[in-house]
Amino acid sequence: MTTEMGFDIIMTDYSESLPNVAVVGLGKIGLTLAAVFANHRYNVFGADINPDVVASVNQGTSHIQNEPGLDELVWTAHHNNTLSATTATAEAVSQADTIIVIVPVLTDEQNQIDYRMIDRAVEDIAMGIKEDALVIFETTLPPGDTENRFGKMIKEISGLRPGQDFNLAYSPERVYSNQIVHDLQHYPKIVGGINEKSLERAANFYKKALGCELIEVSSLGTAEFAKVAECVYRDVNIALANELSMFAEEKDINMAEVISASNSQPYSNIHSPGIGVGGHCIPIYPYFFINKGLSEGLTPLSRKINDSMPDYAITKIEERIGSLSGKNILILGLSYRGNVKEPTKSTALRLIDQLQKKGANTFVNDPSFSDREISQYGVTPLALNNQYCSEIDGVILQAFHDAYNAIDFSHFTKCQLILDGRNKLNQKEINRLGITYEGIGNEGGLTF
Ligand SMILES: NC(=O)c1ccc[n+]([C@@H]2O[C@H](COP(=O)([O-])OP(=O)(O)OC[C@H]3O[C@@H](n4cnc5c(N)ncnc54)[C@H](O)[C@@H]3O)[C@@H](O)[C@H]2O)c1
Repeated sequence: MTTEMGFDIIMTDYSESLPNVAVVGLGKIGLTLAAVFANHRYNVFGADINPDVVASVNQGTSHIQNEPGLDELVWTAHHNNTLSATTATAEAVSQADTIIVIVPVLTDEQNQIDYRMIDRAVEDIAMGIKEDALVIFETTLPPGDTENRFGKMIKEISGLRPGQDFNLAYSPERVYSNQIVHDLQHYPKIVGGINEKSLERAANFYKKALGCELIEVSSLGTAEFAKVAECVYRDVNIALANELSMFAEEKDINMAEVISASNSQPYSNIHSPGIGVGGHCIPIYPYFFINKGLSEGLTPLSRKINDSMPDYAITKIEERIGSLSGKNILILGLSYRGNVKEPTKSTALRLIDQLQKKGANTFVNDPSFSDREISQYGVTPLALNNQYCSEIDGVILQAFHDAYNAIDFSHFTKCQLILDGRNKLNQKEINRLGITYEGIGNEGGLTF
């Protein structure tokens, strides 16, 4: 049977006993993995510290928005009794032959690695793990951590030795939010093991549980670094696009047109410039590399360039509309990117901070968040049909949600400037309303 999203649900004879898997961390990625495994002849115990998440999974509903195919997979697995959830991680793990770890590692304000969430999860795993189980880390990790931090931690707590008494593997999760179900089936899965047996067990697990192409690599470190390198590449490439865009603006050249022309050469793949890089991947993982002894070079410089983009955008606004003190500025998009509810390291947070320091009255709109959630950031939520839109002096598009395709700016009667941080809005229409449009690298716009 195939779901609406084209995902194969394997028809299962439920009288046979299915192998047990524990998925630790039921967020955007973990819940999707759990639901996919539970529709591919596995019996899945999901574990999460959030009781609301656990309750919704046990009712057969997904707490993740905008993830095509996920609702159906969760519901089908619930209906077939192959997916259940608990806050008791050790207990779930004690029943599993395979344990998947997908709890985030973040960085703090000083860009130091924050292991608190995953350390706690691994402690719980170590308290439940049984001999000969297979533990696969999928969370993006600093190279070396699977073995040297977490393998060690499990050994110290459980007394079981990695590679001998239990199997240890690493397989980075490289999917993209909004298309996770699709990507799990179509992206090749990189897998590394602490030894041959662990690698073989992990590869066999993914062959059956996902049915995707596998890339088996020679070590845990290779698999870990492949994911970090992929994210560093994207961060550096975006920084390059941003740097080129600032130059293009000075020269009154449209950067979008330059990129499209340049990328017609097969070896050129210039990414899109933008108002900032957010989320819990790209702005974080370069530090897994930088913090291991890289004080200078392209990677830290690219982080600096990308982190400076919100300030650059605010300077552009000041140049156009003068001092921001007392001005009403609306940010569109609290999430770090469109159609995802994820505020971690969002560029919106830096914009809010800077606007408030400059004395602007800061408003935020984001259809994924409730007014109460938005207010927690010390700003005023504003619906796009609210009469107060006519008092807004300037708008910054930070994340392009689908809902923003249809914004009617005609009732933003006082608005002088719309800064399109993602180069997505309709410049002609905005100009027709007598509002100045500014993109990133797009100043002057197309002249023909
Ligand atoms: N979201 C993405 O786009 C994406 C893409 C590729 C890879 N990844 C990887 O997946 C990881 C997880 O991402 P996500 O988007 O699913 O995160 P998320 O924030 O949506 O979910 C994390 C979940 O872990 C739970 N959790 C926290 N501490 C726990 C603990 N001690 N024990 C059990 N559960 C705990 C949280 O309650 C939450 O439900 C990321 O850190 C990254 O390495 C994410």
